[in-house]
Amino acid sequence: MLNVPVALATEQSDLIDNIDALIEEHGGGRDALIPVLQDLRKKRHDISDLAMQVIADRLGLSPVEVQGVATFYSFLQVGETGQHTIRVCRTLSCSFAGATSIAKKLEAELGISMGETTADGQVTLEWANCIGMCDQAPALLADQAAVGSLTAARVGEIVANLKASKA
Ligand code: FES
Repeated sequence: MLNVPVALATEQSDLIDNIDALIEEHGGGRDALIPVLQDLRKKRHDISDLAMQVIADRLGLSPVEVQGVATFYSFLQVGETGQHTIRVCRTLSCSFAGATSIAKKLEAELGISMGETTADGQVTLEWANCIGMCDQAPALLADQAAVGSLTAARVGEIVANLKASKA
């Protein structure tokens, strides 16, 4: 039997408890991936390999998928953005499923181009890489919320809901 030092075993058990609590809070679906990663980083200031494995296991994803999303999104919290941010996934599945037309509709709705912020500072529009919602492509992130199965008709409602919410 593997001999795990007590302090390490306690640390691992704390980590698993933290993850389980976040999954309880955000739900056990794919769309919980980014909120769970963000909150875990806030809480522990790190996303370890073990954390990614546990999250993958709990959400029914592959560890590689979780690692890809975690690595990419750790770079997102830089630069000045509006009060809210909409990030449209442009990775393969979403690209084939019409991400560009969703982006165009958002640009028209907000009166800005991708990479820009509205003049009132409310919303920034950006491209993103895969957010783990490939089975519901096209998908986007409205602040921390992942929204899948997008249609152009839903864009207005998504923007209105986002503006009405707190950042
Ligand atoms: S390719 Fe868009 S969510 Fe994965």
